[in-house]
Amino acid sequence: MEREKIREIIAKLTLEEKAGLCSGADFWHTKAVERLGVPATMVSDGPHGLRKQDLEGDHLGMNDSIKAVCFPAGCGTAASFNRELIATMGEALGNECQAEGVSVILGPAVNIKRSPLCGRNFEYYSEDPLVASEMAGALIKGVQSKNVGTSIKHFLANNQEHRRMTSSSEVDERTLREIYLAAFEGAVVKEKPWTVMCSYNRINGVYAAENEEYLTKVLRDEWGFDGYVVSDWGAVNARVEDLAAGLDLEMPSSNGVNDKLIVEAVKAGALKEEVVDRACERILNIVYRYEENRDKTAVFDRDKDHELARKVAEETVVLLKNDGILPLKETEEIAFIGKYAKAPRYQGGGSSHINSHKVTSALDVVAGMDNITFAQGFNDNEDKIDEALLAEAVEIARKAKAAVIFAGLPDAFESEGFDRSHMGMPNCQNELIKRIAEVQPNTVVVLHNGSPVEMPWVNDVKGILEAYLGGQAIGGACVDILFGRVNPSAKLPETFPVKLEDNPSYLYYLGEKDKVEYREGVFVGYRYYDKKKMDVLFPFGHGLSYTTFEYSNLTVSSESITDQDTVKVSVDVKNTGSMAGKEVVQLYVADKVSTVIRPAKELKEFAKVDLQPGETKTVTFELGKRAFAYWNVDIHDWHVESGEFELLVGKSSREIILSKTIQVTGTVKLPTTYTLDTTLGDLMENPAAAEFLNSMRQNSIFSSMAEQQEEATEAAQEAISKEMMMAMMKYMPIRAMLSFGGGAVSREAMLDVLGKLNETVK
Ligand code: BGC
Repeated sequence: MEREKIREIIAKLTLEEKAGLCSGADFWHTKAVERLGVPATMVSDGPHGLRKQDLEGDHLGMNDSIKAVCFPAGCGTAASFNRELIATMGEALGNECQAEGVSVILGPAVNIKRSPLCGRNFEYYSEDPLVASEMAGALIKGVQSKNVGTSIKHFLANNQEHRRMTSSSEVDERTLREIYLAAFEGAVVKEKPWTVMCSYNRINGVYAAENEEYLTKVLRDEWGFDGYVVSDWGAVNARVEDLAAGLDLEMPSSNGVNDKLIVEAVKAGALKEEVVDRACERILNIVYRYEENRDKTAVFDRDKDHELARKVAEETVVLLKNDGILPLKETEEIAFIGKYAKAPRYQGGGSSHINSHKVTSALDVVAGMDNITFAQGFNDNEDKIDEALLAEAVEIARKAKAAVIFAGLPDAFESEGFDRSHMGMPNCQNELIKRIAEVQPNTVVVLHNGSPVEMPWVNDVKGILEAYLGGQAIGGACVDILFGRVNPSAKLPETFPVKLEDNPSYLYYLGEKDKVEYREGVFVGYRYYDKKKMDVLFPFGHGLSYTTFEYSNLTVSSESITDQDTVKVSVDVKNTGSMAGKEVVQLYVADKVSTVIRPAKELKEFAKVDLQPGETKTVTFELGKRAFAYWNVDIHDWHVESGEFELLVGKSSREIILSKTIQVTGTVKLPTTYTLDTTLGDLMENPAAAEFLNSMRQNSIFSSMAEQQEEATEAAQEAISKEMMMAMMKYMPIRAMLSFGGGAVSREAMLDVLGKLNETVK
């Protein structure tokens, strides 16, 4: 509906009606205004399926929702690195929403996986903001192409469940910009989600719900967001302040309590009525965008979407290790072991929990193959070794040619609302894997989990598949990959550290009471492990294939650019094996020399290419200013420091195949103010400052400075070399000239010179 028409409706509303529109009618609906024909719209949880609740509403996944299709969770969809595929999944979700009358699906959730312990990591995408933003963007694009809205969440810095409703995430400006905001930024700017959900927590002391800095200045003024901001369920802190800060819709309903506060504030002159109008306009804009584009023909075809869920899952399973064992021969005697072969763990607990219309396990898919035996091996309701189950599993493993253990994290380990307390798998499962590997050299482990786990048995097994939480069709995808009917093509969107203590946030995670400091700064995930050159279990971007790829011919469109230009980077990728396959080509950028502390390299682009055996394709990326910039806290903007940058193309953050160096020149001059505390080294570094001082050589102050310097140098030369002297002088502040000059130069005269200098270099 046109803006004018929406404004006409708002003009006809009473203040009470307007305040009412700013909160839900119940758990899942916006309010209708019947006398003016304003409809109510429904929102429902996602993000990897539809959790539409018909009866009792709740935000913890406790009550039932309609039968739906559970697609792979964010952890898996990110691992696909396949934007088109995830957009297709989004289209299916959008269509389901149209069929079910849902105006907005609540997701995607792009919070950075700061620590392997976060209970909701399975819903989240990556430790890297580019991957999170691009993959979430793909989902948004798909859903919204069906005229259904998304709600990118949880904005902002909500990276733990522990005390999530009160905790303050203490994050410095540069880290917020480069990591935590960046995860949202690309998706918001490029794909324009209809709504954004603010998080429960505080950011540097201010609740996300009333944080004008992020809800309005960054989100709207900088990124151009034009939908409505909705509170996470129950995130409203102080309704009137929240509204003014940019929180438009409160969910769920406060039963009128908070609406009343809005009315009173307007009447008392504490809140401008325009602020209420503004929120109404944003909400109605989305209500009508959906209502006017209803697809009455849409059908929720669960079986069809199940097949798509299987296709998506095929690209979300990462082949972590393969010592020549995979793919398995379909005709051989194989033992399928582990509870998750029969009942896969395919989703996590909480508000994203889908009531799946059907679930396909690996065993379901191989039903009818007599060469496959099964033993449960473990229970997952408590971590207790069951010797009888173990013995049975060992027995069938011993008799077979190969064993596949379907293991992972039980439900109780990964859920919304609380975090994990360690990175281990249940002992009973570790013990099972150990005992099987002792009797069966051809052992493969298939893992079902949403976040990294420690693998004490990593060297004892020949193959490992990370199936993540792959949705209701994961069983089929796993079997297809195990037997080589599908070539694995997923890559890790996060690092698997050797042990929890290696994680950069380890010392500070969860924080102290209601304060959690992000002291590792921008060094999240591989940004830390790579800088520290640490051993990891599996690096960021890692994932094997049944075929091989060769990279060649890395070319750039220019070897010297400014930060106003873009550079095209091309590389040829060839499938040199005998099976068709997909490769995720990763482009990292490294600033060779920097005056700010930066990661060793950062992912700046990626692409997935599909190649037949023998086929070559050229992948071309385009990099602009952002690929070379860091966030400068003096100018509060992205800044490129002139110098050489390395472009690194590879198969993971630890497997760089080709590289090229280019020169990038920054065109923005940083403001400089020289003071008495400026060191001589810093002063002389700036050619303009050096020149100015030279031109002042005749100036008595400067010559006395120079004389002092020479005298000092001569005197000291007997004891130390000239180089040492120069090195020491470098860090001497101008102020020191006053102290060492024996009064030859006055403070006023020196300040006068500095004043002139500052004028010149402005
Ligand atoms: C979760 C959100 C969810 C909402 C509604 C909250 O507890 O954090 O992700 O969309 O509930 O169920």
